[in-house]
Amino acid sequence: MAVVQTLSLSLTLLYLCYLAHHVDALNATATSWSTWGPYRPNLYFGVRPQVPDTLLMGLMWASGESRSELLSTLRDTCEQDDGMQGYGWTFYDTRLGGSQTIHDTQLQVDLDTGFIKSEDGKSWAVRITGTPKAGAANVKTSLIVHAAVEMEAFSLPKSLGCENQSRRGGGVEALCRGEIAELGHFEFQVLGDAQNKAVHDTSVNSVAGVDEDEIWKAKAVFTSQVKAVGGSQGQNVAVQDKPGAGNMHFIQTTFEGPFTLTLSYRAVQVAFLDGESTNATETRLDSLRSGFPARVDKVFPRAAPFEQDKYARFSQEIISNLLGGLGFFHGTTLVDDSRAPAYQETELNFWEDAAAAMAKATITQTVPLTLLSHTPSRPFFPRGFLWDEGFHLLPVLEWDLDLAISVLESWFDLMDDDGWIGREQILGPEARSRVPAAFQVQYTHYANPPTLLLLLPRLLAKLTGAAPYAGHPSTHLATPSAATAALSALYPRLARHYAWFRRTQAANFSSAYPRPAGDAGPGRGFRWRGRTPSHTLTSGLDDYPRANPPHPAELHVDALAWVGAAADALRQVAGFLGEGEDEATYAGHVEDVKEGLEVLHWDGERYCDATVEGAEFVRVCHEGYLSLFPLLLGLMDADHPNLPKVLDLVADEARLYSPFGLRSLSALDENYAEGEDYWRGAVWLNLNVLAVQRLRELGLQPGRGGGSREPTAVQLRATSLAADLRERLVNTVFSSWEKTGFFWEQYKDKTGEGSHSRAFTGWTACVVLLLGLQFDKTTGERGDDVARSPRSSGASSLTVSIGLVVVVIAVVLLRRPLWVTAGKLAKSWDKWRKGQPSGGRYEQVEVIDLDERGHDRYD
Ligand SMILES: *[C@@H]1O[C@H](CO)[C@@H](O)[C@H](O)[C@H]1NC(C)=O
Ligand SMILES: *[C@@H]1O[C@H](CO)[C@@H](O)[C@H](O)[C@H]1NC(C)=O
Ligand SMILES: *[C@@H]1O[C@H](CO)[C@@H](O)[C@H](O)[C@H]1NC(C)=O
Ligand SMILES: *[C@@H]1O[C@H](CO)[C@@H](O)[C@H](O)[C@H]1NC(C)=O
Repeated sequence: MAVVQTLSLSLTLLYLCYLAHHVDALNATATSWSTWGPYRPNLYFGVRPQVPDTLLMGLMWASGESRSELLSTLRDTCEQDDGMQGYGWTFYDTRLGGSQTIHDTQLQVDLDTGFIKSEDGKSWAVRITGTPKAGAANVKTSLIVHAAVEMEAFSLPKSLGCENQSRRGGGVEALCRGEIAELGHFEFQVLGDAQNKAVHDTSVNSVAGVDEDEIWKAKAVFTSQVKAVGGSQGQNVAVQDKPGAGNMHFIQTTFEGPFTLTLSYRAVQVAFLDGESTNATETRLDSLRSGFPARVDKVFPRAAPFEQDKYARFSQEIISNLLGGLGFFHGTTLVDDSRAPAYQETELNFWEDAAAAMAKATITQTVPLTLLSHTPSRPFFPRGFLWDEGFHLLPVLEWDLDLAISVLESWFDLMDDDGWIGREQILGPEARSRVPAAFQVQYTHYANPPTLLLLLPRLLAKLTGAAPYAGHPSTHLATPSAATAALSALYPRLARHYAWFRRTQAANFSSAYPRPAGDAGPGRGFRWRGRTPSHTLTSGLDDYPRANPPHPAELHVDALAWVGAAADALRQVAGFLGEGEDEATYAGHVEDVKEGLEVLHWDGERYCDATVEGAEFVRVCHEGYLSLFPLLLGLMDADHPNLPKVLDLVADEARLYSPFGLRSLSALDENYAEGEDYWRGAVWLNLNVLAVQRLRELGLQPGRGGGSREPTAVQLRATSLAADLRERLVNTVFSSWEKTGFFWEQYKDKTGEGSHSRAFTGWTACVVLLLGLQFDKTTGERGDDVARSPRSSGASSLTVSIGLVVVVIAVVLLRRPLWVTAGKLAKSWDKWRKGQPSGGRYEQVEVIDLDERGHDRYD
């Protein structure tokens, strides 16, 4: 009894605190442009606000020919292989909306989802049009709009009810009204079009009491609703008309031939966006569409030889899909925070000890966390990845600086007190459903490249006016004090993350391990934790060959270079903020890193990893991206004595320089194209784009002493490599897109074909940064005349901070986390794998990691 009382008391308390803080902070009128959006990128079309525990909405469609076809062809989540011949945003702006086209070859229809929202964030509409493919004029298509209320019983008020209005005329098919504390009163309606040829009247199916864990499964719940009606009804395509109150609602219409349907949402105190007509929505979309190319050209100008219109469409589509991949995620995540001694990885065979400790560890389910993040690929990786996000934000920063900062803040909100951020954010059951159980758990000793720090120098340059900014007017740029405030808020968090990385990924400089003569010691060598003989997933370069077997005395050149780049970024921010002491400290760290690179990693020809074999210090050299990290991360200047040899490697067609971009691994390496062949030769855009940018910067670098001088021969070479590599990369991504309709995760170095995940507009989108680079010697940086508007654009990060408040309260109150056993999660992932395309981020974690036999393979 006492237990029950305590429990109910604490629940009441929790609830009251929740209401007190929540309703207070979440003024229902406190919406902004960022509140609503298609922030469910894992669905073909899904809308939700950046407010947790409120509403989840979306669109499904299916063949309307028969009930069995309806059930077997229902489209909901983005899938790799369901007969789509391409889908994605043709234009999209996070602030305004855009239009997505879906080519459904199997169902013989092209769908377009045109989404627009009001500037105040209180209303939005999506216009869905269907165009039958040639020769399928009478094809029947069923559309299902769905809406679900999250955590129905938790906060009050929380209600949603729908009415079927299809017989009333006037075009309104269905009307739903609700109230949710955080959103206030709202309503949405589904509007038909006079031209539509409906197969049946609109059906509204309202379901009450759907389990909280099920409400994101629109397809499954709808299917069971359709199947629930048997008998003579059993052949109807339409779901039973059963409008009313509930926590899930389906509004189904079926059309023959072409159709237009509009879903329009508003907070009750405001007017529906553009009145009640479908045509008005269309007009808004048209003006957005017609203004979009100029906006893209302004932010991402194109220089020779990419002036043609086809490249304009290319850059519009790639930036639209990067932005359209923005997701708002909320839910618990699984963490192994056991800090087992084996996780120190100090012994030989440490990966075996660590695996044994992991098998026994208790897994913590955290309190619900919130994340705003772009996603690498909607069908395959619809969630946040730390190492990808730093790259995603490079183009986003140009387009919408405030959005980039909101995302950065959201990521740093996930950081724990130590400074750790989980490298893959799998928040909530919906996100978990896409990840094999064996990979759901995050480990607090695992790092990932601190790419978010890459943003800092670029952000700083924009905030200080040193670099042009042509994106959306930014509140952070409105005044110098706003810029300083933004950086001072980020700075301590960046510093904490950096300090954590330095501390936890430090190499072991115990005298027990041989090291080369010279100044090698702490701060000059780092090592990724979480290695196995075949993989270093934490480095981001998964199967890139390294020392084998792994050794606790190992030194990883990329880990060291990341520390150097991060320290340099912090040095710049500290300088800007007048933190002189910090600035000097970070400058010292950069110098240490540069020392370490030379003493520990340079073997006279190239930069290499290093390890200990027997009693010997040995360098482990596999030429490829690893050899380039000191260059890629800005740790080599134009007069660096090793630069000529690094450029030799870059330029060597037999080794790294493929016709389609830089290979991840030299074609002469014994591991080239071997095994899973993930980071063993393929061309990856993220690091290639850094290569072009960095080579170009080297070419432009002034001489020591600051005076202008003629570029050196090495600089001229860097410039010409940058220019040539730029063209190869743009051509590669462009041709593949032209041919397949998709952007890809990586490109084959032999043919330039896209490979692994398609619809990958994560970091592949960085290619858009190359289009405008000019290599005319007299032109330095892009000289656009940037008119900076002081217009304030609203509190972009408000909802994110609101999310934080809720999380903090929840953390305080739910101090006893829920525990789940690892055993529960130890499901076989083979089944999951079967459904996946060959390759991808989990494919490479092959059997070797699970049983240790791979070890023998290399001995
Ligand atoms: C909510 O917003 C309105 C309008 O901006 C304001 O008048 C009101 O005081 C706010 N309420 C709270 C609780 O913050
Ligand atoms: C609701 O939908 C059904 C079709 O399933 C239709 O027959 C009925 O007339 C509709 N009701 C209203 C009030 O429009
Ligand atoms: C909407 O547009 C269509 C064709 O473009 C036109 O026939 C129709 O009259 C318009 N409806 C309204 C309400 O303006
Ligand atoms: C460094 O290596 C030595 C020798 O193996 C070991 O005793 C020590 O625990 C290691 N220290 C750390 C911090 O890993």
